[in-house]
Amino acid sequence: MNLLHSLLLLLPLLLFITTTSTATIPPGSSLYASNTSRTWSSSNNNFFLGFAQVGPTSYTVSISYAARVAIWTTDSVVSGTASAAVVDSGGVFQFLRDGNLRLVNGSGATVWTSNTAKLGVTSASLDDTGNLVLAANTFAVWSSFENPTDTLVPSQNLTVNQTLRSGVHSFRLLSNGNITLTWNDSVVYWNQGLSSLSALNVTSPTLRLQPNGILTLSDASLRISENVAFGNDYGEGADVMRFLRFSDGNLRMYSGGTTTMTWAVLADQCQVYGYCGNMGICSYNESSSSPICICPSLNFEAVDVNDRRKGCKRKVEVEDCAGNVTMLELKQTKFFTFQAQQIVSIGITACRVNCLSSTSCFASTSFSDTNVWCYMKNTPDFVSGYQGPVLLSTSYVKVCGTVQPNPSPLQQSGGDKTCWKLRVWVVGVVVVVTILVMAALVGLFWWFCCKTSPKFGGVWTQYTLLEYASGAPVQFSYKDLHRWTKRFKDKLGAGGFGAVYRGVLANRTVVAVKQLEGIEQGASFSKANNGESSADA
Ligand SMILES: *[C@@H]1O[C@H](CO)[C@@H](O)[C@H](O)[C@H]1NC(C)=O
Ligand SMILES: *[C@@H]1O[C@H](CO)[C@@H](O)[C@H](O)[C@H]1NC(C)=O
Ligand SMILES: *[C@@H]1O[C@H](CO)[C@@H](O)[C@H](O)[C@H]1NC(C)=O
Ligand SMILES: *[C@@H]1O[C@H](CO)[C@@H](O)[C@H](O)[C@H]1NC(C)=O
Ligand SMILES: *[C@@H]1O[C@H](CO)[C@@H](O)[C@H](O)[C@H]1NC(C)=O
Ligand SMILES: *[C@@H]1O[C@H](CO)[C@@H](O)[C@H](O)[C@H]1NC(C)=O
Ligand SMILES: *[C@@H]1O[C@H](CO)[C@@H](O)[C@H](O)[C@H]1NC(C)=O
Ligand SMILES: *[C@@H]1O[C@H](CO)[C@@H](O)[C@H](O)[C@H]1NC(C)=O
Ligand SMILES: *[C@@H]1O[C@H](CO)[C@@H](O)[C@H](O)[C@H]1NC(C)=O
Repeated sequence: MNLLHSLLLLLPLLLFITTTSTATIPPGSSLYASNTSRTWSSSNNNFFLGFAQVGPTSYTVSISYAARVAIWTTDSVVSGTASAAVVDSGGVFQFLRDGNLRLVNGSGATVWTSNTAKLGVTSASLDDTGNLVLAANTFAVWSSFENPTDTLVPSQNLTVNQTLRSGVHSFRLLSNGNITLTWNDSVVYWNQGLSSLSALNVTSPTLRLQPNGILTLSDASLRISENVAFGNDYGEGADVMRFLRFSDGNLRMYSGGTTTMTWAVLADQCQVYGYCGNMGICSYNESSSSPICICPSLNFEAVDVNDRRKGCKRKVEVEDCAGNVTMLELKQTKFFTFQAQQIVSIGITACRVNCLSSTSCFASTSFSDTNVWCYMKNTPDFVSGYQGPVLLSTSYVKVCGTVQPNPSPLQQSGGDKTCWKLRVWVVGVVVVVTILVMAALVGLFWWFCCKTSPKFGGVWTQYTLLEYASGAPVQFSYKDLHRWTKRFKDKLGAGGFGAVYRGVLANRTVVAVKQLEGIEQGASFSKANNGESSADA
């Protein structure tokens, strides 16, 4: 009797072991972080629910597509900040007999729950579209599609009051059909309304990603659904798995995996409010297309040097400043102006001075369209900045003491000493190269000028350059004299030491050449001056 009783008790357990690979998850089933290869899968085997290791001893529970793309995860939203719920290797994910789905960590603490205990839930299943459904008979009490985390897949409906979250950022569909990106549930930094007039009557819209890569919005009041966005590969690849993901405060569309992005709400990631945290400045560097987060100046320090997106803080707060408070000027920088603040039409200098002299103002941004506008931030809550060469705005922020600007990128790359050495070296090279180039140019000039000008013969140049012009005696070679006097043919007369011959230089100057007696190869010199040649003419 006792043995039979035990066997009967074991029977459901045995059954459950053999049925875990099917779409239906029997009550009492569990998954363990210690064995990530054990999963609950959809009947088409396209989707899996199970643990995934995300750190040396940390695990999350997620539903993923075959290609390891997580489409849903047990999340933990703590004071508006969303992230995946993380457990240690002792974590267990359970579908309890009371109908509740929960995740407990190694200490037995509940980290996440579906809150469906005692609601009549009799079954759990992962269907072929990736939806995890807890049902009371056939009525869905809870589903992962209705409790989205950061991803939307085809056949999933995003309706009003459903939110996709990443950190402090959230994506929402409003009841009027507007779709919004919001920071900290308070600052809307992107907002797009419906284009058609019929949007006036929209009350409970639904956003859906079509399998062909078009994001559509439908409503009972709309005759046909409106296209909101197109992936750049829409209509292609019928069997490719497309999905929308909200991450880093930006909504993007992907095809196949996270490496093929086909659309983004904000093409410029630095437009995401608060992407670099409080006082953080979003920027791009030349060598990379992904944004970087920097602090405004050395008067600030990173809140977490290992995560620059956590923002910056003043080394000395303005309230605690013993010395003078000054305005740090940030060229080509804007502070986002979504939050309510004072806007006045004053010049750039006044924008700085007025903020400095006002005790309530702690940062300002000046930009001009037809007027020059000044945005003054009068609440010390949150500042999100963007720096880029295309921005025409200048921003100011109060700092304690003298302004200590950020080092330039060149200095950052090498440090002060090597930078100084590098500069000396560069200047040296520039000087040497310049001298060489100048010398080459002068040489080239003379070569060009004397080769082409009929006035100067090739050989003549070596005598004319300095010697002829200086009035000092000029030395000619015997060979040249021999040629110019036509082999000493034209004898003009004879002097004390030898005969004098007529010669014509290459520049047609007539000269008298005296050949010394007894010296065969030596060259005599004779200053060919104009007086002599004119006397001969
Ligand atoms: C992990 O789960 C798989 C699938 O259920 C099973 O075959 C394997 O033996 C398990 N490994 C351990 C260490 O329990
Ligand atoms: C489990 O979670 C509780 C509450 O969050 C926490 O205090 C405890 O340290 C966690 N245990 C482990 C092993 O992570
Ligand atoms: C999404 O909405 C459509 C039309 O309203 C509906 O037919 C479909 O069942 C919904 N899908 C889910 C998973 O709720
Ligand atoms: C959305 O939430 C608000 C407030 O929580 C509620 O009044 C409204 O009825 C909800 N709308 C829908 C369509 O569920
Ligand atoms: C987010 O908003 C809450 C109040 O809604 C506020 O207490 C908190 O300081 C805000 N977070 C930041 C980073 O400003
Ligand atoms: C909806 O979006 C449009 C911009 O597309 C904006 O002008 C309008 O104010 C928004 N409405 C609401 C209620 O946010
Ligand atoms: C909006 O609804 C009202 C009454 O329900 C109707 O008269 C009007 O034509 C509708 N407008 C549009 C653009 O559909
Ligand atoms: C503050 O500024 C004034 C005027 O520019 C100067 O005289 C004074 O030395 C400064 N104080 C400090 C602590 O730097
Ligand atoms: C620019 O980005 C590259 C790659 O991310 C990085 O290695 C480099 O240090 C960055 N330069 C600056 C000046 O931040």
